[in-house]
Amino acid sequence: MTRHLITSALPYINGVKHLGNLIGSMLPADIYARYLRLQGEEVLFICATDEHGTPAELAAQAAGLPVAEFCRLQHNIQADIGARFGLSWDYFGRSSSPENHDLTQHFARRLDEQGYLEERTTNQVYSPVDQRFLPDRYIVGTCPHCGYGNARGDQCEQCTRVLDPTDLLDPRSAISGSTDLEVRETKHLYLLQSKLADEVAEWIEAHADIWPALTLSIARKWITEGLHDRGITRDLDWGVAVDRPGFEGKVFYVWFDAPIEYIGATAEWAALDPDHRNWRSWWYDTHDVDYTQFMAKDNVPFHTVSFPVTLIGSREPWKRADQIKGFNWLTYYGGKFSTSEQRGVFMDQALETFPADYWRWYLFANAPESSDASFTWDGFAVAVNKDLADSFGNLVNRCLTLSAKYYGPVVPDGGTPGERERQVAADLADIVASYTQRLADKELRKSATELRRGWSLANIYWEQSEPWKVVKTDPDGAAVIFRTVINLVRVLSLLAAPVIPASAKTVLDALGVGETRWPQADGIDDELQELAPGHPISIPPVLFAKISDEETSALEARFGGAPLEQ
Ligand code: MF3
Ligand code: ZN
Repeated sequence: MTRHLITSALPYINGVKHLGNLIGSMLPADIYARYLRLQGEEVLFICATDEHGTPAELAAQAAGLPVAEFCRLQHNIQADIGARFGLSWDYFGRSSSPENHDLTQHFARRLDEQGYLEERTTNQVYSPVDQRFLPDRYIVGTCPHCGYGNARGDQCEQCTRVLDPTDLLDPRSAISGSTDLEVRETKHLYLLQSKLADEVAEWIEAHADIWPALTLSIARKWITEGLHDRGITRDLDWGVAVDRPGFEGKVFYVWFDAPIEYIGATAEWAALDPDHRNWRSWWYDTHDVDYTQFMAKDNVPFHTVSFPVTLIGSREPWKRADQIKGFNWLTYYGGKFSTSEQRGVFMDQALETFPADYWRWYLFANAPESSDASFTWDGFAVAVNKDLADSFGNLVNRCLTLSAKYYGPVVPDGGTPGERERQVAADLADIVASYTQRLADKELRKSATELRRGWSLANIYWEQSEPWKVVKTDPDGAAVIFRTVINLVRVLSLLAAPVIPASAKTVLDALGVGETRWPQADGIDDELQELAPGHPISIPPVLFAKISDEETSALEARFGGAPLEQ
């Protein structure tokens, strides 16, 4: 039996994440994990906060807190918001954990022993005003490739190219804004990626038929541009210490230790129940694990190239990703969501405004897969009103309310299914099969289309059968229709459960469905008779409230509708 390891890119600790972060990694990973669990599969879904590096230090400084304290607080905040969004992590760890420190130092030691590390004296930007080196995000300036004016020293957010601080044009300190910068010598460890380029390229090509086009094209571009040896240490205080003479006061680069935390977090998880959990069985010399990673496109190079270099170079049998699902950007009215500039909708604000399921459905159905996608409040309202309220929610409430009115709080008895019911069953079987396949393929938008098809199939059957009329002349005939719709609602709620888990649970509870498992396309007749005559049911509260035009305008005014200049 295959076991499923699922990770989503680790959110930076520097603040509450926005909807773009959510749909770019955490939410799709959660939907996939929930889907597999309903299939009865063994799943380990791991995430963690990414706590080192300049993002953490700069945010702590802005908050006026010692960085360790800042991280502790922010981790709890992100864990809480994630839970309220229904993110069903098996474990949400911290990259600052002792486990990750140990593993990071282990990998560095192994890489060194295999001849893939080298000490080099390099030139780094030093700021006399700040009295320190300015690695990575401590420095901002103009991207030499695309001209973006706010590029950071480690990566340009606009063109996603990875940079060195010395590449930036018109550089300035992110701490003081000082442009009085000099270049000073300092010693660092370099990972000799160039020596492993062929092996990584080979590994990438071995997945050419499996990975999505976006993942593959970014990975290939990276390889084609040539793998350069890369500094994996920094002159910073906060991070995993470099345990090597002459490197006192230096730490590993955040992008070296962060992906290792996928393993570290698994070790943190296992440490909580050592008698029953074995982290190595998921990561080391394993042959029954299917490993899927979820991330936004700026993270793809680090997962298709840099992290594999670490794993391959260790010359130990560490598990590497089988599937890497990359996402394009979700934009806010065509402009950038920005944590630093607080533009867009952040996860805490989202939850204050609407229940998690509204967001989960919208993001699922509008995922930035084949291209960037633009969030607008109108688009959000349409998704909630049409799909959730009019289609799914309305069907559930009307059917259960009317059924209870005519037959009492049980599944109605009487009559036998006819041609129309047989056709509905056949159509449903088709939808269950294709929806299941889309989810297994992690094709979010296409999955949403199938789920919508299921909701509309049930609605069409309901409207065409008109049980509220039939009941007056033929109570047995109407009983068949109600029973069929109630069973359709059960199947459709189960299918929706990975996406809108809270709403699905409300419906399934009302239907008295205790055990939840994935509906089977090839057993659809049984599925549609699962809730037998006499089975007690109740009426759930109205599932989804519609969003009015006035509300939409008010939200636009509150959050800002128009994009700022790029
Ligand atoms: N914190 C990074 C980001 O938000 C992602 C880190 S993913 C990891 O872009 F694998 F490296 F941890
Ligand atoms: Zn750029």
